[in-house]
Amino acid sequence: MSSFTLTRTLPADVGDDALRADVTKGLGGGPKHLPPKWLYDARGSEIFEEITRLPEYYPTRAEREILLDRASDIAAATGARTLVELGSGSSEKTRHLIDALAGLRTYVAVDVSPSALEQAGRELLVDHPGLDVHALVADFQHGLQLPSAPGPRLVAFLGSTIGNLLPAERAEFLSGVAGLLSPGDAFLLGTDLVKGERELVAAYDDAAGVTAEFNKNVLSVLNRELNADFDPAAFDHVAVWDAEREWIEMRLRAREELTAKIPSLGLAVHFAAGEYIRTEISAKFRQEGIRAELAAAGLELRHWWTDRAGRFAVSLAVRS
Ligand code: SAH
Ligand code: TRP
Repeated sequence: MSSFTLTRTLPADVGDDALRADVTKGLGGGPKHLPPKWLYDARGSEIFEEITRLPEYYPTRAEREILLDRASDIAAATGARTLVELGSGSSEKTRHLIDALAGLRTYVAVDVSPSALEQAGRELLVDHPGLDVHALVADFQHGLQLPSAPGPRLVAFLGSTIGNLLPAERAEFLSGVAGLLSPGDAFLLGTDLVKGERELVAAYDDAAGVTAEFNKNVLSVLNRELNADFDPAAFDHVAVWDAEREWIEMRLRAREELTAKIPSLGLAVHFAAGEYIRTEISAKFRQEGIRAELAAAGLELRHWWTDRAGRFAVSLAVRS
């Protein structure tokens, strides 16, 4: 019999201490920045799905191609009975893995977005009767604990979501993943690769303006949850390629000088004309960098698969 359970390790009200602390720290002084997880309320998760279908946004299609081509290799290499996915979103590409993993009994989907988890869970149960689905509303960056489930376990982190973490956060995250693995378990990682600036910037600044809407949605989250008075129309969405650090940086740039009030935090956030909030980075990778970052966390790269155009990679690693 199949089952679906949804467990929250985060409070239902996102206007909680974590959001307040992040906003106070990120907008209270110094270069303005916000952690990307606040982009994903119900509306944000919906707009992200729209991004994955944009002509300019190649990563989803490239990663799906790899998962389709390599699903049976991944199944053979892991023999997973439990699949744990971090930042699972719609779990749309994951279906190819679930289909290929013949011995799979349990799928644990971890995400900060309850709406994404509920929808993905409903759809999975229709197509995969017999699968136990555990949806976990949790932050994969903070003390992640997984429900007990039969091994071997495969932990997947797709969509190049790892690129949205800063280098020090990546190191901490990967060590945490290594700590979740027992002998026989494996880690599947999707990473977007370094490529030409034009193709990269287009993927994060599409012609239809969907990514701009996604980025500005974080201001609506602040308005709703903290009673702030940001005017999304007063900001421009900007995506710039930092060639030295090899990451795309997403910004919200104030068109004119302005002050936004967040009364619930006693904050008045002043912007000079052109001043911006960094809302997200999306780092791009190379094989040697991935190998080294995995190794530093106690993980050994075993397989490296790319799409035919060489834009994206999926790696399989085990504890070293
Ligand atoms: N894996 C999907 C979705 C990628 S978008 C894909 O490849 O298409 C990133 C996902 O991670 C979103 O669903 C978002 O809600 C989730 N997320 C972002 N930060 C998170 C965090 N700190 N903890 C848990 N989930 C997070
Ligand atoms: N992990 C995705 C990426 O880095 C997330 C993402 C795609 C994203 N488009 C975005 C995040 C636009 C913020 C803004 O590609």
